[in-house]
Amino acid sequence: MRFLTVVGARPQFIKAAPLCEALRHRFDEVFVHTGQHYDDGMSAVFFEQLGLPKPDHHLGVGSGLHGAQTGAMLTRLEPVMRRERPDVVLVYGDTNSTLAGALAAAKLQIPVAHVEAGLRSFNRSMPEEINRVLTDHLSTWLFAPSSHAAQQLAAEGIHAGVHVVGDIMLDAVQQHAERARRFSPYPQAVKLCAGTFYLCTVHRAENTDVAERLQGILDGISRLDQPVVLPLHPRTRKRLAEFGLTPGPNVRVIEPVGYLDMLQLERCATAILTDSGGVQKEAYYLEVPCVTLREQTEWVETVDVRWNVLASTDPDAITAAVERHRQNRPPHPPLYGSGDTAERIVQVFEGVVRDHPGCARAGSAREDTAVPQ
Ligand code: UD1
Ligand code: UDP
Repeated sequence: MRFLTVVGARPQFIKAAPLCEALRHRFDEVFVHTGQHYDDGMSAVFFEQLGLPKPDHHLGVGSGLHGAQTGAMLTRLEPVMRRERPDVVLVYGDTNSTLAGALAAAKLQIPVAHVEAGLRSFNRSMPEEINRVLTDHLSTWLFAPSSHAAQQLAAEGIHAGVHVVGDIMLDAVQQHAERARRFSPYPQAVKLCAGTFYLCTVHRAENTDVAERLQGILDGISRLDQPVVLPLHPRTRKRLAEFGLTPGPNVRVIEPVGYLDMLQLERCATAILTDSGGVQKEAYYLEVPCVTLREQTEWVETVDVRWNVLASTDPDAITAAVERHRQNRPPHPPLYGSGDTAERIVQVFEGVVRDHPGCARAGSAREDTAVPQ
């Protein structure tokens, strides 16, 4: 069985690493980087730290408006898929690279596998929501991190091909947290010790592109009782400059950090304030309280167990959420599997090969599937 994996944005490099490692022991994999993220600190550092293979194809798409960016990816993915003739196209998460990979494959009648299927914010103004809904509806295999996500797919009429396998990011945390603890120079590199600072990340368009919301977040974190480390996403840096906004004196703005440094900063933080999907989960895995700077989250289980509080971008709500965490330490049940998601996904494909021996396009179980001209 031959896989073609499409990645392009920071969280996808992290999600792809554990599965890439497991897949390559048993199958062929062609690795494609769309070029959505391109700064060394947003891309190259993850390839180095996580031992990802050098992309077989780098599409160099870069930044742009949604339509232009997604369209450029489609244009460049199509010939690559036609040439490589994979049995399965593998995509992760909910970025424009995810949708482009899924759509290019579906148009060529190549079955799609989606890792992180079934997540919903029910907020269609988020580009990520459009990307994940469409990708799920184009996919043959839907790897859901929780039974809640699988139920959501069922509610949308998707029953076949759904596998609850846990969260691939837990595999990554388990594989790298100890290395991060031993080798990362943080938080000492910013002259801080464990338990004496908050960590914050902000990059979602709904927050960065609206001056009042970005201002609200800055006001909230500037009122906190400890220093706040803020590794700044390039989108946010650009908007802060455009809007003329400056964080308070307790906020230490640093460049985006590599994965190991990020894990170490997360582990040592008093609490994490974020609008990132991945960081919310990592906070949970590392048993650090989280305040989510949004109105909704796709990772509802972390809120249900009270390790995550939805605070929006209102400064009072942000400080109140941090205070609420100070008052209790709830139980910490496993929510998204046990860190063997990559292995479980590989087993699904091994089952496909067993059930359809000799079938080149094992995924669709249609031996006559031809790539359309
Ligand atoms: C994208 C995803 C988002 C994900 C995030 C992970 C979409 C629609 N959004 O958002 O879901 O959470 O990645 O980090 O796919 N830029 C640089 N250097 C880079 C990359 C980006 O300077 O290496 C700047 C550019 O000005 C660019 C802006 O950041 O216009 C936004 O980048 P883009 O990839 O469009 O979206 P993200 O905000 O990164
Ligand atoms: N991350 C990182 N360095 C940073 C910020 C985030 O390595 O400076 C990692 C973080 O640990 C997590 C992933 O990037 O694994 C989350 O990606 P991001 O927040 O960009 O996107 P989202 O998860 O919201 O799609």
